Amino acid sequence: MSQPASRPVPRPGVLDIEAYVPGKSAAPAGVKLHKLSSNESPLGPSPKAAAAYGALAGKLEFYPDGSATKLREAIAARYGLDAGRIVCGTGSDELLQMLTKTYLGDGDEGVFTEHGFLVYRIAILAAGARPVVVPEKNLTADVDAILKAVTPKTKIVFLANPNNPTGTYLPFDEVKRLHAGLPSNVLLVLDAAYAEYVRRNDYASGLELVAESENVVMTRTFSKIYGLANLRLGWLYAPAPIVDALNRTRGPFNVNGAAIEAGAAAIADEAHLAAAIEHNDKWLAWTTAELEKLGLKVTPSVGNFILIHFPKTAGKTAKEADAFLTQRGLILRLVASYGLPDALRLTIGSEEANRLVVAALAEFTAGK
Ligand SMILES: Cc1ncc(COP(=O)(O)O)c(C=O)c1O
Repeated sequence: MSQPASRPVPRPGVLDIEAYVPGKSAAPAGVKLHKLSSNESPLGPSPKAAAAYGALAGKLEFYPDGSATKLREAIAARYGLDAGRIVCGTGSDELLQMLTKTYLGDGDEGVFTEHGFLVYRIAILAAGARPVVVPEKNLTADVDAILKAVTPKTKIVFLANPNNPTGTYLPFDEVKRLHAGLPSNVLLVLDAAYAEYVRRNDYASGLELVAESENVVMTRTFSKIYGLANLRLGWLYAPAPIVDALNRTRGPFNVNGAAIEAGAAAIADEAHLAAAIEHNDKWLAWTTAELEKLGLKVTPSVGNFILIHFPKTAGKTAKEADAFLTQRGLILRLVASYGLPDALRLTIGSEEANRLVVAALAEFTAGK
């Protein structure tokens, strides 16, 4: 018999996790910071959400409503959903972890795509399961490749649609084809963190598929277009038996009261949402076109960020571009950890920030 370990040992898989490294958020001293590294909203939150958050300052000694009823009802009213099939979380990150904790165990497999969101891998490993990474085509999820990777051990498939950091998406027909090809015991998680930004007729976030099936969950976040990343708030829509299971495993007060109040106010402020969509439409197109004029390759994006590709030539690389931009207070995201060592991800920022990035990259590419 083997000796017991001399100190506590994490379960298998935990030490295979590479801890998530968030986007940088510091500029050199004396330089104005433009944080364009985490896909946050340049418009910030709805003023109504900020006021609702502030109003909670006098009530900090009380526990929040553990069911986040006010928030679930506000989301349900906004989208015409059943509030009983919504679960809220401390960011959609927590919901992704809740799903793996609830549906994966030792020996199971969780599938995601080559350049998919990093948290899937972390959540799968943390649940003691095996991550299965599927190749993409043209930086886009490939339904046939995903279906080919499914084995009797597969319990979850994660699809970010649109995906971060590529900005690419699958049309709804393809999502439906993916769902149709999956065994009914495999949970399909549609991570729609950037759904509000998408302006394509063939896109859908997946609400309809959740409503029609027993094995699809859609996750959303308040961190991006709603400008509430600091509060950590997300939600998911799921079939009733899945909601029941998640309500057993989640922390009893997992969403704080300030997030509940601010989220409910934010989702009701349609004018603020419309302004954020309009800003993104305009500056996503402008920034993409201007960077292409500089000879840089940009992956067409439907989100609030773009992937900019750089040559491997010394003096012109993504790493060097990142250092050049950082000196000017322009903080983008290196995406080598996503298997994209020659690219930077740029969040669409304020007009000032977008213009500064284009001007700085004009200087960088000209080699001055
Ligand atoms: C695709 C995707 N899903 C989920 C998240 C997590 O968002 P949050 O935990 O802030 O809700 C992000 C954030 O970067 C993301 O890009």
